[in-house]
Amino acid sequence: MASLKGKDILHGNQFSKKDIDVIIKTASNFEKELKGKDSLTLLRGKILATLFFEPSTRTRLSFETAMQRLGGGVVSMASAESSSAAKGETVADTAKTVSQYADVMVIRHPRIGSAKEAADAASIPVINAGDGAGQHPTQALLDIYTIYKERGSLKNLTVSMVGDLKNGRTVHALVELLSLFEARLYFVSPDLLRMPEEITSHLKGKGIEIVETEDMMEAANASDLIYMTRIQKERFTDLSEYERVKGQYIINEDFLKRLKKKVIILHPLPRVDEIAPGVDSYPGAAYFRQVRNGVFIRMALLAMVLGKR
Ligand code: CP
Repeated sequence: MASLKGKDILHGNQFSKKDIDVIIKTASNFEKELKGKDSLTLLRGKILATLFFEPSTRTRLSFETAMQRLGGGVVSMASAESSSAAKGETVADTAKTVSQYADVMVIRHPRIGSAKEAADAASIPVINAGDGAGQHPTQALLDIYTIYKERGSLKNLTVSMVGDLKNGRTVHALVELLSLFEARLYFVSPDLLRMPEEITSHLKGKGIEIVETEDMMEAANASDLIYMTRIQKERFTDLSEYERVKGQYIINEDFLKRLKKKVIILHPLPRVDEIAPGVDSYPGAAYFRQVRNGVFIRMALLAMVLGKR
């Protein structure tokens, strides 16, 4: 694997199968090393800057937890309104400025391409924590780590991705990683929210088997794993379109009763109504375990880009 030292993490397509193996092993080692301890000392003296121009609970807090569990420090900008972006500062100038303070930066921004813009301007590694409807590569890595832990293998996978496949940056990044393991994919969405054509044709070009359908039950019964996503209201310019498609796909106790097999259920979260709270006790409901895995994956990525693993 090419070392991640000093590298940016911007897109799901930048990783090889070997990279994924090394990242999973590094995350797993940190998970073991941390058992019974509050924190490690590997990144003592290093500073992470988290720049969030869009709301977040998991990504920001798990990166900050990861850095602190590794003994490092954190400076944080939790919203665009609390930064000089509100006065008109560009992403590039923000990135150049933060490069003077921190050793690594994590950025979330509503515009596709903004993380690359920050990376081009910064003199420290930049990690994309979600650029609009573009990519969310660290989420995809923690998803893969979760699949590996839940199944014990990434081989012979059939995955149903359900919901807002048009705007879902998590699925856009995850399909890149799943394609390395030749997973079969079901794309389940309303017609309005289908996976972008350039992504499906890119995957088909790599020989990936794809079925596009609006029937979640049919797809779920053919799959090992259901990856639910939220319909992203904030990406709609016409709210009447959102009203038309919302609530179309819901996993609830009744759905589980009708399901013919046990499946693993993942969701990047936050959820709105697409998974009923009563599903949380289903043994395959892995979405809160998925949240926890995010800390170990982000510990691995921080240590690796800073050249400590
Ligand atoms: N999964 C995810 O990106 O969650 P947040 O929006 O809370 O960071």
